[in-house]
Formats: sequence, structure tokens, C-alpha cells
Amino acid sequence: MADTIHNCNGALIVGAGLAGLFTALKLAPYPCVVLSPAPLGEGASSAWAQGGVAAAIGDSDDPKFHADDTMTAGAGTVDAETALSVTADAAARIDDLLTMGTPFDRDDAGQLVQSREAAHSHNRVVRVSGDRAGRAIMDALIARVRQTPSITVLEGYLADDLGVSGGVVKGVFARRVTDMTAEPILFTAQATVLATGGIGGLYAVSTNPAKVRGQGLGMAARAGAVIADAEFVQFHPTGLAVDTDPCPLATEALRGEGATLIDQDGHRFVFDDHPDGELAPRDIVARSIFRKIRDGGKAFLDTRAAIGADILHEFPTVSAYCTAAGIDPVTQTIPVQPAQHFHMGGIKVTSSGKSTLPGMWVCGETSCTGLHGANRLASNSLLEAVVFGARIAQDIRETPSGTAPHDAQELTSITASAEAQEKLAPAEAVSALRDLMTTYVGLERTEAGLETALREIAVLERDWAPISRAFLNMSTAATLITASALKRQESRGGHFRSDFPETNPAMAMGSEITLSEALAIRDAL
Ligand code: SIN
Repeated sequence: MADTIHNCNGALIVGAGLAGLFTALKLAPYPCVVLSPAPLGEGASSAWAQGGVAAAIGDSDDPKFHADDTMTAGAGTVDAETALSVTADAAARIDDLLTMGTPFDRDDAGQLVQSREAAHSHNRVVRVSGDRAGRAIMDALIARVRQTPSITVLEGYLADDLGVSGGVVKGVFARRVTDMTAEPILFTAQATVLATGGIGGLYAVSTNPAKVRGQGLGMAARAGAVIADAEFVQFHPTGLAVDTDPCPLATEALRGEGATLIDQDGHRFVFDDHPDGELAPRDIVARSIFRKIRDGGKAFLDTRAAIGADILHEFPTVSAYCTAAGIDPVTQTIPVQPAQHFHMGGIKVTSSGKSTLPGMWVCGETSCTGLHGANRLASNSLLEAVVFGARIAQDIRETPSGTAPHDAQELTSITASAEAQEKLAPAEAVSALRDLMTTYVGLERTEAGLETALREIAVLERDWAPISRAFLNMSTAATLITASALKRQESRGGHFRSDFPETNPAMAMGSEITLSEALAIRDAL
């Protein structure tokens, strides 16, 4: 139990990526505390986003068209009402981002430039300097947050448990990342917002910061939150195959500009799987590359003819990654591999971002709003974060404020091993977990493989969770994803079962799971 209590006046936001910071800014002047494990701007996936924000703001476009594209990409499991309402809110949130200082690219007439990305029927992605949208948005928001008196930022704190009293979330238990063996500090608040990011660090090859590894999903599920669509994990086709962890991303905008995918013989092999070749849906291109590499081949992105030397200024981030790996993208092809990129599933929330646990809202990739279904449409993730950040802020402001408890004894820490010595998640256990998720819960899954994964996760959890709450959150998140993938006996979007390769129209709905159900599946093996 915590020795120290920090009573936040107002809201507590756990996480400082786009979802967390935008929520904090929209709450202002309502007070909030933002807990960030790293210095602001470091460690959040949002800052690495190379795409942009999708918004139907062009004359010939319409939020309805954007919603239709979102639903088509989502392979039958997108919540139509959510898609329609999120796309309708997009223009207002772009205005907010502009007001907050985001320097979106403009044309000579001063209009926002709108680019096309795969599976969008219109040009509707607003970007910054080609591939720098995430970084530029985060820089603008961080500057704003630093100037906003109602926002207190506490850097260097990692939350690993929810504090719950009478079934209501009242805050979190967190430790300083520099001293994870110390007693946790209890942060209490009138409203708790989880914005802890996705699950990339559960996979050996991911485009996300390695420390983003299902912490929020794990701690919420352990407190009884309902988790939705956990089996739907998106793999980006073109991570750079350069043996760097995390895996650097080559944005799909390159293929939008005409870059091709070739194998070691120069053959454009994706056409063997889909008539749209490189511009086929993301999951199909990713599996095509996965199979090429699995079968002993190699895959390369060839930007030379279509983009040439323009890559250096139009895609500065990708160019810098190439240069760091000793590749000259102007004259050489770029070796690529699929990499875990995004989690469509997460903590189930309502249209105003409320989880099934009273007192707790969830924003960004940690949540499942129903927008993405089985496969996220490109550049819809930053959009979702800002749309739900605004809704959550409004909901919290309108919610009669409860009392933040002042006494730790009032709260239940969810973990049975609260007395255990706390350590950082041990590197060997983390590495074993990442390898088994990649091998068995990756781009192609089978019943036997998923069952093996669940058994091995249980062994790792038994050995390591008692000394590391951070590892327990990881193994919990991995169990939820794997058990959900085992339950879905069909292939749909990002979830491909080679033992059930067809889509089953009778399963065209999202899934829900609780930790007790996932553990029952695991324990029955
Ligand atoms: C990309 O730029 O390829 C990724 C964009 C996204 O995932 O939304």
C-alpha cells in the first residue's frame, strides 16, 4: 500500500501522448495533473506518426464518405454511429489543432494541403512537412501545455495499478521510473483518464516505442474493465528491415506517391496476391511481405523512379532513418518487413469515452471506441485521439465532481501481490514475451499456436509477475489479445487465422472479453 498520497485537484490524466495532452488542453481551465513516464514528447507513439490527421474538409468530400471508407477498411466490424460522429467532428478538431499552433502544410493560396492515403476515396489527410505530422503536433501541444496554468505535468512516473473504492476508480498507484522498488505513490482525483498508448512493445518488431506495452490495458482489465476487439492488431507493411528496435517506419504515403515493392529478383510480388498491388489494403500487403520473407525471400521498397531525390525533402523522417542505416534512398532500394503498428482493440468506451469502470475515461489507442473495427484506416488514429479527447473533457467538466479520497486505506490496489518487491519488468522475460507474441500472435495465427502462446504466457507470468507489476500488466494484455484471437475462428482485417482463412459473415461484429474469461480460457488448456 502507498505511503505517499498526492491528491490531484480535478482530473488525473495518465499518459502524455496526443490523447493525454489534447484532453488536458480541452479541459482547461478545469484543473488536471498529467502523469508521464518520460519527459514530455519522449516515449509517446504519437510523436512518431508519419501520416497525418484524416478529416473530410475538402469541397468535394463529406464526413459521410470518410465514414464509409472507415467502415470498408474495418472489414464489417466498425460501429457505424461512431464512424459517422467521429468523421463529423473532424473539422472542428483540426481547427482546435490549428489554434493550438500546429503548422499543417498549406498551399500557395493558404489552403490546407490534403493528401491521399490508401483506402481513402478522397484527398483528406492533413500533414506537416510530408512525414512529420506527429512530431509537429506534439511540439505545438507541449508548448501550449507548458503555458497553461491549469495543467500540472509530472514527468517520470509510471502507473501500474488503478486505485478503486466501492467499484469506482479514484486514481492510480504510480512509481518514479528512477526508483521502481520504492513504495508506490497514490494519485487520487475526481476523474481518471487513461491515455497510456497501445501494445507495440509486446511484439519483437514494432514501430512503437518499446515502453508502450499494454500497461493501461493490463491494469484496467485487472480491475474488471471490459476489453473490446483485442484480437485486432494492425501490422504495417513497410517497417525498415534494418535490425533496429523499435523498427523505423517507411510511411505508406511513399507507395501513394508511386514507390513499388519488389523482391530480390525485382518482381512486384504483391500483385500475385491482390490486383491493387502496393496499394492493396494494409493487412494484405503486410501478409504478402510476411510470406515472402518467411519463404526465404526479401522485400524492398523502391522509391527511386517515382520519388527520386525528392524523398530527401518530402520525406525527411524516412530519409533520416535510411541514412542512419547506411542506405541511400535516392540510389538504393530500402529493405522492408512488416511491423506491429497499431492496436484496434482496447478498453471498451462509450461515445463520450467512459469505460465500464465508473470514474474512469479512456482516450487514444488504449481505448476501443468501435471506430477502427478489424482494420484501422490510415490517419484515423490521431483523429480518434483528438475527437475523444474533446468529448472526454466535456464529459468530465459536466460530471458532478466526486470526492477524491484522502486515505489510502479507502482504496483497493488491484494486485494480489501488493506486498511483493517491485522491480522493472525483467529484460529476459520481456524479450521472451515479445518473441512468443510475434511467433504465435502475429500476422498469421492458428489454434495450436495461440494455445502454445497462452501456455507460455502463463509460465512467464507465474515466474515474473510476482516481482514485477509492470510485467503483470504486460502478460495480462498479452493474454487478452491471445485469448480473443483464439475465440475468433475466422479471418477478418488484421486478424488472420490460417486454419480459418475465410471471413465468416456471421461473425461481423466486435468482440468483448474480460480478464476472468481470458484466464478461464488459458487455465482450461
Ligand atoms: C503511415 O504513414 O504509413 C502510417 C499512417 C497511419 O498508420 O495512420
